[in-house]
Order: sequence, then C-alpha cells, then structure tokens
Amino acid sequence: MTKHNQWSSKLGFILAAAGSAIGLGAIWKLPYVAGTSGGGAFFLIYLLFTVFLGAPLLISEFIIGRSTQKEAISAYKSIAPNSSWHFVGILGVGTSIVLLSFYSVVGGWIVNYLLRSLTGSLSKLELVDYQQLFGTIISNPFQAIGAHLLFIILTVLIVQGGVQKGIERVSRFMMPSLFILFIILVTRSLTLEGAFEGVSFFLKPDFSAVSSETILFALGQAFFALSLGISTMVTYSSYLQKGESLPRSMFSVVGLTILISILAGLAIFPAVFALGFEPTEGPSLIFTVLPAVFNEMAFGTLFLVLFLALLLFATITSAISLLEIIVASLTKGSNDTRRKMAWTSGIIIFTLGIPSALSFGLLENSLIFGLTFFSLMDFLVSNIFLPLGALLIALFVGNKIPKEILYKEISQGSSVPYQLFKLWYFLIRYVTPVAIIFVFLHALGIFSFIKKMVLTFG
Ligand code: TRP
Repeated sequence: MTKHNQWSSKLGFILAAAGSAIGLGAIWKLPYVAGTSGGGAFFLIYLLFTVFLGAPLLISEFIIGRSTQKEAISAYKSIAPNSSWHFVGILGVGTSIVLLSFYSVVGGWIVNYLLRSLTGSLSKLELVDYQQLFGTIISNPFQAIGAHLLFIILTVLIVQGGVQKGIERVSRFMMPSLFILFIILVTRSLTLEGAFEGVSFFLKPDFSAVSSETILFALGQAFFALSLGISTMVTYSSYLQKGESLPRSMFSVVGLTILISILAGLAIFPAVFALGFEPTEGPSLIFTVLPAVFNEMAFGTLFLVLFLALLLFATITSAISLLEIIVASLTKGSNDTRRKMAWTSGIIIFTLGIPSALSFGLLENSLIFGLTFFSLMDFLVSNIFLPLGALLIALFVGNKIPKEILYKEISQGSSVPYQLFKLWYFLIRYVTPVAIIFVFLHALGIFSFIKKMVLTFG
C-alpha cells in the first residue's frame, strides 16, 4: 500500500475544491434552471440555501475527510464502525456515477463547440443559426456520443495519474483567467441595448413565480454547485494536512462559487433580453446566447475560443472530482490499482451516459414519467439524491460525532470563536435536516394535502 496522497500546498486544496465546485452547475445549470423557474426569486432562494445549508455542510464534509484521512466509504466506517453509516458513502459513490454519466454529455457539447470555434465556424451567425447549429450538434447521435466519449477519456487520463499534481499546477492560471473573461463578458452583456430588463429578471425576485418545485430545484442547485451531498469534498479533504484552516477554505469555495454564479447570470440574462432570446430555452441556453454576445465584441472569435477552453477546463476539474471519489473508494486510497479502476469506471459511466447523450435526438420522445432519460437522471441526482445525501451527512455530523470533537476538529488550523462554532453546530444539527425534510415534504404536496384535510374536516 502506498503512502496516502496529499495536496502539496495550502492553495492546492482550495484550488481543487473550488475547481470541483465551479463548473457546469453555476455556469450552465443555474442560468437555465433560473430561466425556467422565474428568475430572481429562484436565484435568491438558491443563495439562501447556499449560505445557510451549503456552507455548514461543506465544513461538515471537510471535517469527515480531514479527521479520518480516508475516502468516502471508509471515512464513515472509521468514525462509526459496526454501523450502517458507510451507506452514506456508498450512496455517494453510486450518485457520482450517475451524475458523471450525464455531466459528461454536456462536457461533450463543450468539446464539440470548442473544436468548431477553432475553425471559426461559430462566428458571425444569426441568432436562429446558433439555435439550429446547437440543435444539430446535440441531436446527431454520432457527435453526441463521440464527444461524450472524448470528454470521459480526458477525465480518466487525468484521474489515473492522481489528481493532486495536475490540478494544482493548471488551476493556478486557469481559474483567474476564467474570472477575467467572465468580467469582460458581463461588461459587454450589460452594455447591450435593452440589457436592463435582463438584470431585473435575474436580480428582482418575483415570488409569485415560486412553487414548491422551484424551492426543491433551488435546494438541489445549491448542493450541485457546491459539490455537496455525495462526499466529493470528504474525499478531497482527506488529502489535506491537519494544519489547514477549514473555515477559511469553506469561505473561499463558497465565495468563489457565489461570485461565478452572479457573473454567469449577469453575462447571460441581459443578453437574453437584449438580443431577443427566451430565458426559458432550457439546457441549450448558454450555448446559443453566449456565442451571440461574443459576436457583438471586437475580437469576438478569439474570446469565444478562449471562453470555451476555460469553460471546458472548469467542467473537467469538476468531472475529475466526481471520478476521483469513485476511484478512491474502489482503490481504498492505494495507487496500485488506480489506473485499472479509473478506466473501468470510465467505461461504466460512458455506457450509462449513452441514453443521456441520445436524449436530445433519437430518444427525444422516449419519455419516462414525462422526462427524457437525461432530464430524469438530472432530476433524480440533483433533486433527490444530493439533498438526501446532504440530509444524511448533516445527521451523521450532528449526531454521531461528539460536540467537543467537532469543535476540536474545526479549530485545528484556525481559531474559531466558540459562539461561531455554536452557530454552525445549530445550523448543521437542527436547521439543515429540518429544512431539507421540509422542502421534500413540500414538494410531495404533503402540506397542501394536510391543509385541504383541515379545511374539509376541521
Ligand atoms: N459542482 C460541480 C458543478 O457545479 C459538479 C460536481 C462535482 C458535483 N462534484 C460534485 C455536484 C459533487 C454534486 C456533488 O459543475
């Protein structure tokens, strides 16, 4: 058995954790789900969930990982031996497999778009052409499956070598570049004529548009964007030395994720309204809107290529974290079988992702519960399994680890005032579980059912 892997620097961990968090969730999924769920109100609820449930959960996953120095499944075993709690880790690994299977379909779209932008074939098109071109890309079975495969191969190639070296070196340059490019994009978008309508759609909450489903989606979105609920962050923090400050890492990851969410929204919605797109377009939203914004810029083609490359990078660093939790659990941290496990997982994930890749073409009309295979997988993962995993992790930390030990773990590497610790403890032990259960029950319509009963019989 080889020595347990470690991040080589403090920055390494933050970059990797932020790299896992920042990806399609904040940049692709948030705008399109916000667009179909009423805009500002959805975004506000997402922010509240991120701050009050996501942030405390992130610290919880960090504690489980760093204190045990073990991957997803063994970590729970070592804290609660002879119990069933390691099921939380198994659930996490299973969910990662499903998540990555459709995540890499979208990753494939980016690969495809990037290759096309390099040839200049994405520039100077009319609005309808972008929609048509994107429609062709995602509906063509060979292109969709081929790009999905390419994306998985890329991810496996990085993970098989161990994530630490690669991520740290590249992220240092790529992440800041992504932010800078976003700021350029936002500036252009905001100065388009008619941009204001988009800003107000995105930032002005209209609560009449909120349904119990909206709240459930916002909850799932908050966990998705922070990589929570399936022990990804447990795995990453197991490579962390004891001296790091967990609260500081948490603030960096949450802060950067919120920042990129806002930038993505401000890049997209003003342009949606100014250029005549529909906010309700769905998964294709950023792929049709953003090239059109670049079209309105000097050196637009160059910026578009750069942007797609950085978006691909952000997507890959998230995909890596998803594959890493699977591989780390299968190899139990040993490097001897890493390669084999990475490829085996890759093949399984690729196969499982094929129906998702075909969901925008051949299987467009094969609906299960009214959803395409892609949407069904996304719904199950984002809105059921992530919140369920988060609920279990909150219960685990709040009930299975003694309060004094938690305080010791949190303050190792940082000085946390006891009052602040108590606030965190309250959030994780009471607020998080109650809120998640409440949102679930609400979505199931339990409360309106009870109200109806009371009105009828009361
Ligand atoms: N957070 C990533 C994104 O927004 C996706 C992701 C990576 C993820 N690891 C995860 C989502 C773990 C949920 C759980 O693109």
